[in-house]
Amino acid sequence: MHVALGLNTFRAVTRASGYVKYLTTLPEPQEPTISTASIPGPKSLELKKKLNTMQLADMVNFFVDYESSTGNYLCDVDGNVMLDVYMQISSIPLGYNHPRLLNVFNNDKNVKALINRPALGFFPGKDWPVRLENILKQIAPKGLNNITTMMCGSCANENAYKNIFIAYVRKKRGEEGNFTEEEMNSCMMNMPPGAPNLSLLSFQGSFHGRTMGALATTHSKYIHKIDFPSLDWPVAAFPNYKYPLEENERGNKEEDEKCLTQVEELIEAYSKKDRPVAGIIVEPIQSEGGDNHASPEFFQQLQYITKKYDISLLIDEVQTGGGCTGKFWCYEHFNLPSPPEIVTFSKKLQLGGYFHTSEYRPRETLRIFNTWMGDPAKILLLEEIINVIKEDQLLEQVQKSGKVLKTGLLQLEKEYPHLVNSTRGRGTFLAIDFETPELRDTVIAQLRKWGVHAGGCGKQSLRFRPALTFKEKHANIVLDRLRKVLYET
Ligand SMILES: Cc1ncc(COP(=O)(O)O)c(C=O)c1O
Repeated sequence: MHVALGLNTFRAVTRASGYVKYLTTLPEPQEPTISTASIPGPKSLELKKKLNTMQLADMVNFFVDYESSTGNYLCDVDGNVMLDVYMQISSIPLGYNHPRLLNVFNNDKNVKALINRPALGFFPGKDWPVRLENILKQIAPKGLNNITTMMCGSCANENAYKNIFIAYVRKKRGEEGNFTEEEMNSCMMNMPPGAPNLSLLSFQGSFHGRTMGALATTHSKYIHKIDFPSLDWPVAAFPNYKYPLEENERGNKEEDEKCLTQVEELIEAYSKKDRPVAGIIVEPIQSEGGDNHASPEFFQQLQYITKKYDISLLIDEVQTGGGCTGKFWCYEHFNLPSPPEIVTFSKKLQLGGYFHTSEYRPRETLRIFNTWMGDPAKILLLEEIINVIKEDQLLEQVQKSGKVLKTGLLQLEKEYPHLVNSTRGRGTFLAIDFETPELRDTVIAQLRKWGVHAGGCGKQSLRFRPALTFKEKHANIVLDRLRKVLYET
């Protein structure tokens, strides 16, 4: 009987039934409402028990009702409605169930894009080049006119690292140089010269992902790394600023200089020990590592060093990209004299990938490749996200609500100097430190009871990662609840 349905009947049935009804957005509530004595509530605990029978679920905070979540508000399975300033680790750009995004899959063509996921490297769909061109035109960092799409942040970095090595060796070998027999054989045994002893320089406190190459450049927490063999690659100190910045200018400048000197020393040292540095990998704001900032001058000097040694600069915008700092790419705040060679992205952009110059395009096929190489369905979402960011002027919105939140946090520092300090950040990408890690954890738990869902980072920081649709009224709710928690502490 199913087969006998004509196409028109099928369309009518689906439109008139749950298909359309399901794709709705509830209005945002005025404020959070918490109905269970503790979070996770009983239903979450029950589900956690069940999940734990199949996998380690200890990190699950609570279970979410994504159908009922709306805008800046997340609804858990126990009916608690929380103002979400963590947004799935900074990866939801427009809040939950944004009507424009629901609408993307409210047509047959796009649903077909969703279910027929192609092996993009071999068989892309007919509109793939136009889609990428639209993306490139609208958000590509200036001067980076090539795009490689991937799946997640780790996968973006992992592959971009390979592009760096390819470009580095090509320079040494010469444009016309071919792979030697020895190179082709030795690489099959993971040995030089085919698998050369090259390295990438990264920074203490950085997080670039968890796949083996990306993990070799990740240095935020030992638990991410322990027991895994890794690479002897150089790791430099990242500036450790004191706040407020205006009162600590001299010391912070010295921090910049100390770290930059170390970068150069490490490049020299690794060259001497025959493990030359092919590139530097850096987050514009170290995020998982504790929202560690460095000045525009630091980044300008870092770029100068990469030029001096003729190596690549990769800026990892996985967490910072997409508008949350008030500019689409955070590195735009740094006024670099020229663009970095590679910018990686994921999270708010819905799929992973990177922008780069033509120089970083491999000349041979299958060197940067995998089955999916991204996801056309996610590109459909990304296109619409970019439209909404532009139409609703969300970068300006981020600046306005970020200002309210930051001003309020600075005020709380004055009111509770024994509890909080070091307010910092750009746009709504803000963080504050607590006197101890335990206090930070307690405040996050207490905030949840007051209906605000925030996240931690580093040792004792609380990070704010709201959606781009976060408004001044939301910032005021956060500040009001945080003040209550600090008062009670
Ligand atoms: C700066 C940065 N790079 C890379 C990653 C890894 O991304 P993913 O978790 O999608 O692999 C993250 C994840 O938080 C990140 O913050």
